[in-house]
Amino acid sequence: MKRDCLSLKDLKKEEILYLIDKSIEIKNKIKNNEDYKPLNGVILGMIFEKSSTRTRLSFESGMKRLGGDAIFLSSRDIQLGRGETIEDSARVISRYVDIIMIRTFEHSRIMNFAQYSSVPVINALTDLLHPCQVLADLVTIKERFGKLDGLKIAFIGDGNNMANSWIYAAAILGLNLTVATPVDLSPSGVVIKEAMEIAAKSKAKIELTQIPYDAALNADVIYTDVWASMGEEEQTARKHALLKHYQVNENLTKDANPNYIFMHCLPAHRGEEVSADIIDGKHSVVWDEAENRTYAQLAVILKLLGRD
Ligand code: CP
Ligand code: NVA
Repeated sequence: MKRDCLSLKDLKKEEILYLIDKSIEIKNKIKNNEDYKPLNGVILGMIFEKSSTRTRLSFESGMKRLGGDAIFLSSRDIQLGRGETIEDSARVISRYVDIIMIRTFEHSRIMNFAQYSSVPVINALTDLLHPCQVLADLVTIKERFGKLDGLKIAFIGDGNNMANSWIYAAAILGLNLTVATPVDLSPSGVVIKEAMEIAAKSKAKIELTQIPYDAALNADVIYTDVWASMGEEEQTARKHALLKHYQVNENLTKDANPNYIFMHCLPAHRGEEVSADIIDGKHSVVWDEAENRTYAQLAVILKLLGRD
């Protein structure tokens, strides 16, 4: 039975913790130029219906580094849901490749695709979730602090796919997460409901607030993301108006843990969700986050293919 990774909910707590450590192991092997080619002969199909810098490069270079290969397919090149149904596309594409990653719009599109694909499918961002990014972020936090437990993580800004993914991560792993968004830009109600049920068992502490200072207070990790996500361009003015007091800057971070780290999945807009002095300053770990995408995704691919 093939396995997919469409959401962190597809993984158990122990599996996520294993993937974090596996990512660090893969990173060390690659950095040490070890002869490590567990993906020999494996081909990844990469379907992009939205743009990408990091996701495309990290998946493609990662596959090649571990002996595999990747085929890039943009929505201009294939017929996903237009000239051909998603179901038929999934049946056909999965006859040519061993594993598939998809970046798309509605989460239902990837769920539908995965149901008809005969090979594992990985979510490389939907409007709802971006699980690969959070896995890379967890790797980055573990590298910096040596642990995840006992840290206060703050997500500040739009209640978007990154906020939703963080809420699932905290719920499953039993983390301490405070999410500060305007009430009109709250994270997904479905995600919050499910996460609170999981959190009741995992002992996660998940708080939702409209006050960014409360999230940043004593935080060890301060995370933000763009105010208007891909596909929301027409909402930019409205979202910027709602989020103008949510910028991560010196003033907002003054009562965070003095050793806090600043995180952002990128691309970033300096002067909007984050000031230039913060993202370019000593607390920022954004370039490590971007690099760790490669290792986190390779860990997921090895796991889904049973090659770990
Ligand atoms: N963080 C991230 O997914 O970046 P890209 O949109 O460039 O892939
Ligand atoms: N929330 C952003 C994340 C980009 C990696 C978006 O969906 O555009």
